[in-house]
Amino acid sequence: MTDALASLPQNNVLVKIEDGVAWVSLNRPGKRNAINPGIVFEMNQVLDVLEAEDSCKCVVMTGSGDAFSAGMDLKEYFREPDAGPPVARERLNRANSAWQWRRLMYYPKPTIAMVNGWCFGGAFQFLCACDLAVSADEATFGLSEINWGIIPAGIVTKSVAAALQQRKALYYIMTGDTFDGKEAEKIGLVNFSVPKAEMVDKVKELAKKLMEKNPHVLRACKVGYHYTREMSWDMAAEYLASKIDATKFRDPEQGAAKGMSQFLDEKSYRPGLGAYKRD
Ligand code: COA
Repeated sequence: MTDALASLPQNNVLVKIEDGVAWVSLNRPGKRNAINPGIVFEMNQVLDVLEAEDSCKCVVMTGSGDAFSAGMDLKEYFREPDAGPPVARERLNRANSAWQWRRLMYYPKPTIAMVNGWCFGGAFQFLCACDLAVSADEATFGLSEINWGIIPAGIVTKSVAAALQQRKALYYIMTGDTFDGKEAEKIGLVNFSVPKAEMVDKVKELAKKLMEKNPHVLRACKVGYHYTREMSWDMAAEYLASKIDATKFRDPEQGAAKGMSQFLDEKSYRPGLGAYKRD
């Protein structure tokens, strides 16, 4: 364990690394893991540390107790900072955007959201920013903002628009109706929904699959996906042409050369059916 990992507060956010997977839990179970400034600033610290931590190959974001997260803390994230100095309000917004999507969407390691229970409002931001998501069938999701008189702000509306088709997105934004894990899977908000008792094993299986891939190329794949979505077709083609060269050039394990040689020369594997053999 590095000094940086050992020095994490383990207070509002718990971190445990096992077999390459960092299990990161929002840790205010009594408040259903509502996101307060404590979580915001600690989560940024956690993401910094895990980025540099060699024993962490994949990050799983989840919640302590029976909630994933009840979204932003109405008292500590909204009411109290709104009554304080604007500079502090803006600093908190910035720090929250940093961990919930700016950093997480482009995080250099694969990320999986594990939705273990209540998931409301602001929690959709970091749920959507994770690469993949697994839910418990028993989890309850809701864009509850309409129920207390605000719009899904931060970046929730855009996150939901990117993840869901329009009819579903507008239905849940405008009604605030709740839905369960199976519906979340059906509408594409999560990859898989399974009974809660099977959820951790499903996440481990998925993490294992991701960790078998070339991490350098995996990072370029996800970052390229997000950037090219916002580009014109011509710009995307140019970007990807440059990135494929940069990725090959900088890849520490020179995966493309190995993969090609193992298929064409050694005939030891089939790329269509699995990954090349890494050292
Ligand atoms: N902000 C602030 N406090 C919250 C909170 C939030 N988003 N969500 C839960 N809490 C607090 C409650 O005020 C309560 O605090 P208390 O024990 O000091 O009274 C505690 O967490 C437990 O909440 P409770 O409502 O009793 O739990 P529950 O299990 O019966 O219901 C929820 C869980 C998630 C359905 C319910 O707490 C809720 O509707 N939360 C708000 C969800 C929301 O609209 N989030 C969007 C914010 S963007």
